[in-house]
Formats: sequence, C-alpha cells, structure tokens
Amino acid sequence: MAGGLEDVIAAETVLSDVDGLAGRLVIRGMPLEAIAGSWRYEDVLHLLFEGFFDALPAPTEFTAALAAARAEVFTALTPFDPTLADLPNYDGMRALMARLPDGTDLASALRLVAAPGVIVPALIRMTEGKSPVAPTPGLTHAADILAMLADAAANAERVAALDTYLVTVADHGLNASTFTARVVASTQAGLASSVVAALGALKGPLHGGAPGPVLDMLDAVGSVENAAPWIAGELARGQRLMGFGHRIYRVRDPRADALSRAIDRLRSTGNADVTRMSLALKVESIALEALKRHKPDRPLATNVEFYTALLLEALGFPRDTFTSVFAIGRTGGWIAHAREQATTGKLIRPKSSYVGPTPLAA
Ligand code: ACO
Repeated sequence: MAGGLEDVIAAETVLSDVDGLAGRLVIRGMPLEAIAGSWRYEDVLHLLFEGFFDALPAPTEFTAALAAARAEVFTALTPFDPTLADLPNYDGMRALMARLPDGTDLASALRLVAAPGVIVPALIRMTEGKSPVAPTPGLTHAADILAMLADAAANAERVAALDTYLVTVADHGLNASTFTARVVASTQAGLASSVVAALGALKGPLHGGAPGPVLDMLDAVGSVENAAPWIAGELARGQRLMGFGHRIYRVRDPRADALSRAIDRLRSTGNADVTRMSLALKVESIALEALKRHKPDRPLATNVEFYTALLLEALGFPRDTFTSVFAIGRTGGWIAHAREQATTGKLIRPKSSYVGPTPLAA
C-alpha cells in the first residue's frame, strides 16, 4: 500500500491538472500562465463553477452576486463576536464559517466564497483594536478585501497582485484539503460542511504551509552581505531553507513564476518595500546556488511559498494570517470539487487493512 496514498488515483476531475515533471498547472483547460496576472478571481471562480450549478449567471452578474454575498455575510456577522479577536485569525475564521447555512445551491456557494474574504480582514482589524469595515458595493472580490483590510481603496496594482495570488491558489489537483472536501461531499452533506472540513485540513503545516517562516528567514538573514554565510551555516547544520523544494514539482513550481511576476510589478510601481525585495531576490539566488551544491542529485527550486510570503507582506497582511488568505482563494476550488464529487452520487469509502492483534478465543 502506498504510504499517504502517494500516486493513488482517487478521483476523476475536469477541474485542474498538476504535472510535477513538466512544471505545469492547468485549470480547466487554461494553463496557469495564461490566466494568472490577467484574470480576476471571479473569472477563475466562474470557470470552476460552470456546469456544477443550475443557472450560473453570466460573468458580470456573477461578480455582482459575489459582491452581494459579501454584503449579506457582513450584515449577518455584525456585530462581530469580540472574543474572536483573542483567537488566531485562522481559528476565528473557521468558527464563523461554521455558522453559514449548509446548502448545495449557488447562493450557499457564493456565501461560502464571500465569507473568508469578509472575515479575514475583519478579524485582522479587530486584533489590532480597530472596527471591521463593511464591504463596498461595486468592487471586485480582491479590491474589496484590500479595502476592508485598510479602510481605504487599494490602487490597481495592489488589486491586480491580490487577484494574481487568488487565481494562482484557486485549485491544485487532489491535495489534502480538496480530497477532504470531496469525502464530505460524497456523504451528501452540504457545502459548508465540506468547506469547514477542508479548512481543518489546510491548517496543518504540511499543507497550508507556512510562508510566514520565509519572512522569519529573511529577518534572520537581515542584510545582503549576511545572506551567503547565513545560508551556508543553515545547510551545514542540516536545516531546510524555507520556500524551496516541493513534493510534486521536480522543476520550478509554475505558481512561483506567476507570483514572482506580480511582485515585480508591485516593486516597479512603488507598491513594495524595495529593500525587502532586493534582499529576498539576493537570498533566492544565493539559496538556489547553495542548494545545487548541497544536493546535486535533487532539484530544489523556489516554491510557491517564497513568493506568497513576499506578495502578502507587501499587500499588508500580517504573516500569521497568510494561511487564512490562502483559504480565501482555495475555497472556490473546494466548492467546485465538492459539487463535482456530489454529481457522481458515490460515497467515498475505502478499506483499511487490519494489522491489529488476532481476536482472542471466547
Ligand atoms: N532546504 C534544504 N534541503 C532540502 C530542502 C530545503 N528547502 N528541501 C528538501 N531538502 C533536502 C532534504 O533534506 C532531503 O535530504 P536528504 O535526502 O539528505 O535527507 C532531500 O532534499 C529530499 O527531501 P524530502 O523531504 O524527502 O523531499 P520532499 O519532496 O518530501 O519535501 C518539502 C518537500 C517538504 C516541501 C521540502 O522541500 C521542504 O521541507 N522545503 C522547505 C519548506 C517549504 O518551503 N515548504 C513549502 C512547500 S510548498 C507547499 O507546500 C504549498
């Protein structure tokens, strides 16, 4: 039996394809590089949802329906429970998501997509002693999230960067949280049940990852001059460099490229801390060289977490909320997979192999 179900095919999907050898991610027929940087989150959501809901509205009405769902969720949660500010952002978000209706229709799906986009900025603000900011009618999902975070309209470059991030992480094959969402949907439970279960799976450090430690690494390096000796010291001590290597990708993670282009645009338009970015780029190139020497037989390239950390920091998200922001994007993928699984009508129920003690004679 394959440990961790590695290489086991557990579902057929039309939603996304991850090719780790070619370094390719395809979302419903669209290569990631064709959509990340030019599509809004609503566009990829519409693509993922097509065929899985009755009467999916055309893109313009779909964007308006998602905006209306954000307003509905904000109203339903106001006043926000102040004790949630004492919890980690992710746990507070998960608690509020669990209160949403557990339907399977488009309205339920849109509420679930809208909710983390409303809740994450609200809880960040409450933790900082500020009041939550209501959604603004007429904005896109990414623009509204940034406006609710900062209580000010974000410029076009920052909105485009968040859209690029959300599109990039919207779906990624049968990862642990997506599989979880499909298992729950196969029991005919509602979409909120699938999403809350998937949130549990995403939280673990082996999955939702911790782009926060990439920033801890940059803080520890401190300066360009210190980068080479610091990296050499870490590798000599057997430590791993955060933001490098991947279980599936044996070549460069295509999501890293998509996010790196978005960061370049932020940097060139004065929307990111240039010193931080210069340090990060220097650390990346020194790390890649050092990893080649350290593990000549094991390709260890930059992964999605390295650039996620830089992008979300530049957009003003605190580092301990990066996994919550990941969930904002991935919720769309979970819902599409849950709907796709439900259409098969088949309960997911694998077998286990008993290796315990033999039954005692009566
Ligand atoms: N720095 C230094 N050495 C590394 C790194 C790294 N980032 N990644 C792997 N290696 C080394 C390991 O020490 C190991 O060496 P060994 O054979 O001498 O023991 C070898 O490469 C193979 O490592 P595995 O753990 O077997 O590789 P796996 O594919 O299982 O690991 C993982 C993938 C967990 C992402 C790993 O590369 C890692 O720990 N990276 C750093 C953390 C990180 O960036 N995580 C985010 C990943 S992206 C995501 O999950 C969305």
